[in-house]
Amino acid sequence: MRGNHFESVMGVLGFGESHGKVSGVVLEDVKGGVIFPLEEIQRELDKRRPGKGNYASTRQEADRIEVLSGVMDGITTGMPICLVVYNQDQRTVDYKNLQEIFRPGHADYSWYRKFKIWDWRGGGRASGRETIARVAAGAVVKEMLSGIKIESYPVQIGKVGVENISDNFPNPISWPDPGTYDDVLYELSKAQEANDSLGGIVELRILGVPAGLGDPVFGKLDAKLAGALISIGGVKGIEFGGGFSLAGMRGSEANDQMGAGGFLSNNCGGILGGISTGEEILIHLAVKPTSSIESEQKTIDKDRNEHLIEIKGRHDTCILMRILPVTTAMVRLVLADCLSYQKLQEEKKLDLNDYREALDKIDEDILLSLRRREEISRLIGKWKNRHGKAVTDGDREQKLMDVLKEKAGAWQLDAEMVNDIWRIIIKQSKEIQENS
Ligand SMILES: Cc1cc2nc3c(=O)[nH]c(=O)nc-3n(C[C@H](O)[C@H](O)[C@H](O)COP(=O)(O)O)c2cc1C
Repeated sequence: MRGNHFESVMGVLGFGESHGKVSGVVLEDVKGGVIFPLEEIQRELDKRRPGKGNYASTRQEADRIEVLSGVMDGITTGMPICLVVYNQDQRTVDYKNLQEIFRPGHADYSWYRKFKIWDWRGGGRASGRETIARVAAGAVVKEMLSGIKIESYPVQIGKVGVENISDNFPNPISWPDPGTYDDVLYELSKAQEANDSLGGIVELRILGVPAGLGDPVFGKLDAKLAGALISIGGVKGIEFGGGFSLAGMRGSEANDQMGAGGFLSNNCGGILGGISTGEEILIHLAVKPTSSIESEQKTIDKDRNEHLIEIKGRHDTCILMRILPVTTAMVRLVLADCLSYQKLQEEKKLDLNDYREALDKIDEDILLSLRRREEISRLIGKWKNRHGKAVTDGDREQKLMDVLKEKAGAWQLDAEMVNDIWRIIIKQSKEIQENS
């Protein structure tokens, strides 16, 4: 299952369950011989820790990062870097009564439908603890983004929205507007008193992104950012620039007209055709209210018997504040990837090592694809075995070769080379099928 991987300028593999021993990440392809930013990673992790402010979970964890591999005397070795944080304050007992029933709003039901098992101890991989991996990985690429500033803050919690944004208003919930601060605290306290929770909207402003990042069609920068940000638990909506309000505008209002000094507005949110314009990238994320609430809710168990549940445990009234550093990390990972790819395209900035690194990455992708191909061949072998079908299917082989030949021609690849490679692949595939 590849859902735990995130491909950026480096491979990011997150692992560990909320109530397991550790939450961690393996980073691949980090250049050897560079200073490993351990303190920076710790600083970023401290930002996402629970237990800050009155409306946060009281789960208290130091979240001290430990390096298990890939770093020697503070310097990267070029080998996979494994980082872990020990889960110390988990109280599985809080979840014992939930072994059989699905918590509304959580991933329990859908995971059960997919895997026939779910981690009732706080959601396992669907818990916010998995974001330790994202934040740690984001901190590693931070230094690649000099000149780029990413700001992430709430602009709405529950029904209270900001009116003015101040640059300098430090407070435990990162609320940027002194004028509405008391209102938002009141909104939070009311929800907490009612054993309920709140959602809200996060605003992300990304400044200093050069024009030209992102690719046409399937590699669009907004598509990549959306994928990365929507993958954060609890994030249910995203808009760029004018977003949903563009739907009600006329073209004459929505279009960002241009003058000698540049764009006259930024309704497109800094991205046109999937490629950055050089203007500020503006994103809004809708975050749903925290699912775990102590008020009584209706649900069912595996046998569809109905139950009433109240979710005890320690939960944030609103998770928005904890999501902020995670959003920053995901944006960093996407931008770092786009920047390094852009560097490859602008050949003048390259040296031989850059080319070789790019080739190594492609070779790794090929190997991964071959592994996936083998896995599927094995499944086909089992299927054929069960259904009494012969492994060799001459017609299918011929069709496959014809299609590949046609594609090789269209993509200006050497047809003979493609033919040779696939003869080997098919031979191997048949051997695997025979032995499945
Ligand atoms: C940093 C972080 C912390 C979270 N903490 C909680 C929490 O304390 N309680 C809760 O119900 N959900 C929490 N969530 C949200 C759940 O992980 C999420 O709602 C759940 O996995 C279902 O996924 P979905 O909402 O994206 O569909 C948190 C998410 C993040 C990113």
